[in-house]
Amino acid sequence: MTTPTAAFPANFVWGVATSSYQIEGAFEADGRGRSIWDDFAHTPGKVIDGGTGDVACDHYHRYKDDVALMKSLGVQAYRFSVAWPRVLPDGAGRVEQRGIDFYSRLVDELLGAGITPWITLYHWDLPSALQRRGGWANRDIAGCFADYAALMVRALGDRARHWITLNEPWCIAFLSHEIGAHAPGLQDRALAYQAAHHTLLAHGLGLQAIRAAAPNAVTPLQAGITLNFEPTLPLTDSAADARAAEQAEARNPFYGWFSTPILRGHNGPEVWADAGALAPRVQPGDMALISQNNDFIGVNNYTVGRVVDKNGAPERVRNTSAEYTLMDWEVAPEGLNALLLRLNKDANGRTPLYITENGASYTDTLSGDGRIRDERRTAYYRSYLGAVRDAILAGADVRGYFAWSLMDNFEWALGYQQFFGIVHVDYATQKRTIKDSGYYYRDCIAANAVV
Ligand code: FCB
Repeated sequence: MTTPTAAFPANFVWGVATSSYQIEGAFEADGRGRSIWDDFAHTPGKVIDGGTGDVACDHYHRYKDDVALMKSLGVQAYRFSVAWPRVLPDGAGRVEQRGIDFYSRLVDELLGAGITPWITLYHWDLPSALQRRGGWANRDIAGCFADYAALMVRALGDRARHWITLNEPWCIAFLSHEIGAHAPGLQDRALAYQAAHHTLLAHGLGLQAIRAAAPNAVTPLQAGITLNFEPTLPLTDSAADARAAEQAEARNPFYGWFSTPILRGHNGPEVWADAGALAPRVQPGDMALISQNNDFIGVNNYTVGRVVDKNGAPERVRNTSAEYTLMDWEVAPEGLNALLLRLNKDANGRTPLYITENGASYTDTLSGDGRIRDERRTAYYRSYLGAVRDAILAGADVRGYFAWSLMDNFEWALGYQQFFGIVHVDYATQKRTIKDSGYYYRDCIAANAVV
């Protein structure tokens, strides 16, 4: 047991995160091209209640207020993403300077507020023009992505020194190409495997391009990738369930297809075997590109998968004694703790970890006095921050934490029916209200501890 107020290391980074399509709106402003999320959200039936990112939180026009809001909470770093079609409306070739200027103004505003920008280059809004060429299923995407990365680093790299290539390649590949729940909404397993390989290639070429394009500056450039994980935990502490969880972990695609190739230089043999004849086409030299050294690995985690032993094999079950969020995700901070310790081992302690997303969606009520008393979200943060701090105390090299999200926003296929913000957004008026969890997070930042 650790004391509840044990502090984080002195240079621990406290941030908040968002992504372009989820907050910017202004979908036709200043020459922005179309993205696969515009196409998907405008297709009836794809997003709950017909929600789109056309307006979202109108952050494109309100970014100054949003930066001021972050500053008022004491936030030290802001992870946001660039909308590829804003700066390259056709995905490649013609540059839209007005798009670049927007991100340049945002970076300056952040620096002026003493907030460090952390830029994600790809958080799912692929230019539609590239989807017409096959998108992530076409190997050429890796080169297009590297060119786009170089463009952005040349434009902003003198001031922005933290770069994330891709957000959650598992979602880019499997959720979007096999399950079909996200744009481009395909259901083709072979394509998903091929897309998975191409996300890794894009990351590898992107890293090289970022480093080659980076202007010299006092602060060293830091480049990495954000991966998402749903670690498996046994339902009970029986030996049989523990074995079942181990079996499930060996076949867990989040490691096998993504963190294992990046950190260990090979695909997980079990996931590769599971793919069988559908395994992706790989060219000589690919793995060397994929497993280059990263300055950090971003870790996104919200929940766990539970299993029990069923006749010697793992069976997925619901944990009826646990709390679940509005996403129907089990609250299980011990999963994040175990994940961080495992990744630290997989990286041989060589690659620092940052939590680039963690948070919870619950329904909020605005009280008569204007306050939002979101106790469950606050409790979620308290328990997960505790799990992070315990992982650090146990030796994991975790250097920072970004709450998802700064504010309520467009939650992909679930539209505006989920609420991850530590700040409430009234979509009719665009009024922002800091929730109690936001004040709680502010107090943790100020104390550099779980309070
Ligand atoms: C992650 C996404 C992020 C947000 C959260 C809830 O998978 O990266 O954009 O939707 O889930």
